[in-house]
Amino acid sequence: MFRIFLLASVASAARVLHVPLTPPLTASRPLDPALTSLSFDPAFWVEFWGNETHPNAFSMQMLKNVADRTGVYPVIRPGGVTQDSSTYDPAGGSPVRTTDNVTGAIYRTTWGPAFYESFAAFPGGTRFTVPLNFGNDSLAIALAEAIAAVRHVKDWEERIFAFELGNEAGNYKATQRNLSTWGPAAYVVEWKNWTAAINAALPAPLRTRWWAGSDGITPAAVTVALQTEDLIARGLDRPPIVREFSQHMYAYSSCTLTSAAAATVPNIQNHTNITAFVGLLAPKVVAAQKAGSDLVVGEFNSVSCSGKPNVTDIFGQALWVIDTTLYAASINVSRVHIHQGATLVSQSNSQINIPGVNGTPGFSTYNLWYPVDSPLRGRRRANPSYVSQLFIAEAVSKSKTSRLLALEPPAGVSPDLFAAYTVYDGEVPRRIAVINWQTFNRTMGKAGAAATSVSLDISAVLPRRGRATLKRLTAPGNDETDSDFVTWAGQAWTNGTARGKEVLEAVSDGKIEIRGSEAVLVFVN
Ligand SMILES: *[C@@H]1O[C@H](CO)[C@@H](O)[C@H](O)[C@H]1NC(C)=O
Ligand SMILES: *[C@@H]1O[C@H](CO)[C@@H](O)[C@H](O)[C@H]1NC(C)=O
Ligand SMILES: *[C@@H]1O[C@H](CO)[C@@H](O)[C@H](O)[C@H]1NC(C)=O
Ligand SMILES: *[C@@H]1O[C@H](CO)[C@@H](O)[C@H](O)[C@H]1NC(C)=O
Ligand SMILES: *[C@@H]1O[C@H](CO)[C@@H](O)[C@H](O)[C@H]1NC(C)=O
Ligand SMILES: *[C@@H]1O[C@H](CO)[C@@H](O)[C@H](O)[C@H]1NC(C)=O
Ligand SMILES: *[C@@H]1O[C@H](CO)[C@@H](O)[C@H](O)[C@H]1NC(C)=O
Ligand SMILES: *[C@@H]1O[C@H](CO)[C@@H](O)[C@H](O)[C@H]1NC(C)=O
Ligand SMILES: *[C@@H]1O[C@H](CO)[C@@H](O)[C@H](O)[C@H]1NC(C)=O
Ligand SMILES: *[C@@H]1O[C@H](CO)[C@@H](O)[C@H](O)[C@H]1NC(C)=O
Ligand SMILES: *[C@@H]1O[C@H](CO)[C@@H](O)[C@H](O)[C@H]1NC(C)=O
Repeated sequence: MFRIFLLASVASAARVLHVPLTPPLTASRPLDPALTSLSFDPAFWVEFWGNETHPNAFSMQMLKNVADRTGVYPVIRPGGVTQDSSTYDPAGGSPVRTTDNVTGAIYRTTWGPAFYESFAAFPGGTRFTVPLNFGNDSLAIALAEAIAAVRHVKDWEERIFAFELGNEAGNYKATQRNLSTWGPAAYVVEWKNWTAAINAALPAPLRTRWWAGSDGITPAAVTVALQTEDLIARGLDRPPIVREFSQHMYAYSSCTLTSAAAATVPNIQNHTNITAFVGLLAPKVVAAQKAGSDLVVGEFNSVSCSGKPNVTDIFGQALWVIDTTLYAASINVSRVHIHQGATLVSQSNSQINIPGVNGTPGFSTYNLWYPVDSPLRGRRRANPSYVSQLFIAEAVSKSKTSRLLALEPPAGVSPDLFAAYTVYDGEVPRRIAVINWQTFNRTMGKAGAAATSVSLDISAVLPRRGRATLKRLTAPGNDETDSDFVTWAGQAWTNGTARGKEVLEAVSDGKIEIRGSEAVLVFVN
């Protein structure tokens, strides 16, 4: 690694970023080192993870890079739409999807013991949620899955973090429930009834490990059915068996042509929009904590229905993941599980994404990585957004006492296009994350870079003569789609491991400069 010094020519007007020197009352709870966790649609489990004897080494490396920085592995949620059409077959193997031969829609995902056995291929200490099918309305199917998990997950007491009954039950179709009676009231009655029946078959340590809710908070009317506050008010957690309440979070979608038209870079990459949407979680966090539980985002991404090409597979998506995750942490969301998968087709008849040829996966363009080569997306590789995980992991760190605070933008800086957070370890600010949301695209040149740059003065938090170390997350532009040109502290991560020398910038005068479409993490010495 080597150090470079910022030139003294850092733009004239450095604006003061105010960072409280001790954590105020509004600082977050201690951060879970697994803050940035993951979710995978079970139908594509084999592509992402392989099996117990032949794990996907690339995906495993992608996890390890995060764990190296936080000291813990992300919590893995195999879950999503295909969970609600899954079946356990004792004679089956790894998850196999059955698709409609005309539309290509997945209507069944079947797995046997090998699915649960594959959990043992992950490093020790990795924890999982277990997906149970609620959509089919057959307790027998869900019960068989739960019992099989206990039988086939090695070290189940450590590895099984939670059972999750159903995915986005507020979205169920007429084939899944009688929609004239389905809603929060019916959900709570059925959820309590099924979890009680399944608990009777589970070993005692697992009986209080349920996830509840798992429905969306999108403003769209179709997914507002199951909200944490409402479920708690209806007595869902009496007796208390819920480990965590879960809500899903997608502000935009490509499920229909109309919704896809609104999923644009200027709409998505606006800090005011991000915080308004993520802020919908605040009362749910409070409700969950009052009930003695916690709130997690069990599934989220920027654009539902598998993303939008040239919007979710660009460098700017990395900045979006960071801002969304850190803002959620600032309002005491415990963990966020960023969703990974491939096109399902079944979600609407006019979605813009398609599967690959001959049943090959049409991997979602919001994925952090493409786990295998595929005809539609090309070779296995990291997407430009992957580096967000390294940034967040280093902001959170291995400390179990980190607390986070969202900072106000400096005077004269647009709150729409700027985000900053500080992380305290104990009583002092140790790390400062800044995102400059002013768009800098690849073709904007030097003048564009200068016009979109922000200079900040953080000398007040740097007691030792303005000294600090800084890592930069950058790319030739917000619209960069080639991960080879996306760097975290000078290194590219396209193929799973770092290429290039690590660059630690030395801040010596308390001034930092951030170009448009860049983020930095300052390490206060
Ligand atoms: C988050 O939790 C901490 C306590 O751990 C509390 O002091 C703080 O006010 C909470 N933040 C919000 C936004 O509620
Ligand atoms: C595990 O995956 C390998 C490679 O795809 C395959 O050859 C093997 O049969 C699989 N094992 C099981 C138990 O499915
Ligand atoms: C699709 O499946 C149906 C029922 O299994 C079968 O009759 C039909 O020939 C199949 N069509 C194609 C194009 O494979
Ligand atoms: C429920 O499962 C049964 C048995 O696998 C299957 O025939 C049926 O189509 C499923 N129903 C739904 C709504 O998924
Ligand atoms: C759905 O529930 C309503 C109200 O109880 C009932 O009238 C209707 O017959 C039910 N529909 C089906 C398909 O069971
Ligand atoms: C669940 O509901 C069914 C049918 O209403 C009932 O027979 C069963 O006893 C209930 N089970 C539990 C554990 O409450
Ligand atoms: C987000 O930002 C844009 C500006 O591009 C604004 O027009 C839009 O209405 C905002 N809201 C949402 C929900 O996208
Ligand atoms: C960001 O979104 C807000 C609405 O939430 C809008 O008022 C504002 O103009 C947008 N800012 C930019 C720079 O587009
Ligand atoms: C993405 O952008 C590239 C380059 O601007 C363009 O060639 C391609 O058609 C775009 N893809 C889609 C799906 O819009
Ligand atoms: C940058 O490119 C995106 C497409 O990736 C476009 O939506 C946006 O308007 C461009 N912004 C500027 C400032 O040129
Ligand atoms: C990743 O591998 C590809 C194919 O071998 C290569 O072209 C690319 O330069 C590599 N990128 C990095 C950052 O190592």
